[in-house]
Amino acid sequence: MNKNGSGSRLPRLVNLGCGSVWHPAWDNLDVRPMGSEIQAWDVENGLPFDDGSVDGCYASHLLEHLTREGARTLVRECFRVLRSGGVIRLAVPDLETIAREYLRALGQAQEGDQAAMKQYEWITLELLDQLVRVESGGEMERYLRSRASENVDYVTSRIGSEAAPYFTQESERQGPSSQSHRNSSDNPNSHQFQHAFTALQERLVTGVCSLLIGRRGRSAVQEGLFRASGECHRWMYDQFSLKQLLEQCGFSDIRRCTAFESRMDTFDSYNLDVVNGDVRKPDSLFMEAVRP
Ligand SMILES: C[S@@+](CC[C@H](N)C(=O)[O-])C[C@H]1O[C@@H](n2cnc3c(N)ncnc32)[C@H](O)[C@@H]1O
Repeated sequence: MNKNGSGSRLPRLVNLGCGSVWHPAWDNLDVRPMGSEIQAWDVENGLPFDDGSVDGCYASHLLEHLTREGARTLVRECFRVLRSGGVIRLAVPDLETIAREYLRALGQAQEGDQAAMKQYEWITLELLDQLVRVESGGEMERYLRSRASENVDYVTSRIGSEAAPYFTQESERQGPSSQSHRNSSDNPNSHQFQHAFTALQERLVTGVCSLLIGRRGRSAVQEGLFRASGECHRWMYDQFSLKQLLEQCGFSDIRRCTAFESRMDTFDSYNLDVVNGDVRKPDSLFMEAVRP
């Protein structure tokens, strides 16, 4: 019996670290589920599927949030749960493009090019902010809220429609947390409760730490809890290292592809990487591989 309750064989597709981008035909998992349709699951604990029971695994902008070892464990788990011929599709921020773009903007900025100076500012944030931030949103969110309107074309070319809410007066007033996410739940009460509960737990833990080890100890624990929350980048990949990772985990026929291409049947019908003809995350490196 498949997810849709029918006895006929529909593909079993798994969306890992789905965030707000999920589809009802898929098994959607996230450590911080944004709705009741999403299963709360930490992929660092393996995957809750039998060996060879899955046709497609998709993880968009998840791998970089795991440690190198955690990412390797996850890709190995995808290998375990995929059937022979099953496809893994990964999307990550492309470290190579970011690094090349950083060097280009730096060179031109140093020659006094005004547009390049603005581009340099943004690409430096893209490279560093999610690696080093110690609070939600970090420098990137501050820039998007206050400065992005000076750099609309470049920021949009880098992060696509995710930048749009920051360019409207409405969103400046309400803040991006109130934007409606595509595919997000209509009734997020349970996840709000879960977040409130987690926040309460964290307040209790940091309160106890403060008593035991003082203010510096408390801020160290707060920082640690934030760093472990799944928001930060813990590693980054380029086409070479991502391919190596897939090879080392046993995958074959590894190919870089575009957002529009996939070896998963009907992938385009789920609007995961392309929405209304636009690439949802243009900064991505897309790669697919097959389980032999
Ligand atoms: C940058 S968002 C990407 C969301 C979505 N896949 C997309 O493409 O827009 C990263 C997501 O990974 C989730 N995540 C981070 N660590 C995780 C883990 N260990 N297990 C499951 N999900 C995780 C986060 O909660 C977040 O929703």
